[in-house]
Amino acid sequence: MSGPALDWRSLLRDPSLFDTLRGQNAYLDEFVRVHQQIDWPKHLDERPSLVQRYSWALPTDAALDMVARYAPLVEMGAGGGYWTHLLRERGVDILAYDRERPHDENYFSRHQWTQVDDGTPRVLREHPDRSLFLCWPPSRSAMATNCLKNWRGQHVVHVGEWRISTGSPGFHDRLEAGFELVDKLSIPQWEGMYDMLTVWRRKPAAG
Ligand SMILES: C[S@@+](CC[C@H](N)C(=O)[O-])C[C@H]1O[C@@H](n2cnc3c(N)ncnc32)[C@H](O)[C@@H]1O
Repeated sequence: MSGPALDWRSLLRDPSLFDTLRGQNAYLDEFVRVHQQIDWPKHLDERPSLVQRYSWALPTDAALDMVARYAPLVEMGAGGGYWTHLLRERGVDILAYDRERPHDENYFSRHQWTQVDDGTPRVLREHPDRSLFLCWPPSRSAMATNCLKNWRGQHVVHVGEWRISTGSPGFHDRLEAGFELVDKLSIPQWEGMYDMLTVWRRKPAAG
């Protein structure tokens, strides 16, 4: 694992780590604020509205740098596009798709940060020349598996939990069988979550 450990146990054990997260982007600043100003465990009451406004995962500069190394990219299930927005601000070439737009009743996202086009995993057939970016693909859903079935590119950048509540068992099986892990980075986690950034490269075809 490259970079410092930013998982929730490390953050709660060493609160000075929060100071290192300030000033990178608005979501991280909010994350630091709720941890420093709201007594445990009430800070967790802020999580639902923040994930709906920003993203289900917390981007750091180091995480964005790592994702950027695999450009050009295509993101599926981008929600309001917060990660894509931050990557575009850095000049990264990234397309973003979701089947649903942010709105006040949307469980996943309520704020549009950048252009996200209408699209489902089938559209990935058009983008074998781009790395696939998945950030918190939905659980109990075939979405992430369908991404791997439709997309023929080389690198998958995955931000999520491993075999817990993002993606599906079928997705993780397919990723492990067809790809090898080439990069891994700790990102800040909300308490009780186990998300991280991993990068996978397609294994050469057998024979
Ligand atoms: C947990 S949210 C993550 C959103 C965003 N990546 C983030 O981190 O905030 C999962 C997203 O996947 C989208 N989604 C679910 N099934 C989909 C499908 N079949 N095709 C495209 N998007 C889908 C949802 O609309 C939702 O925006």
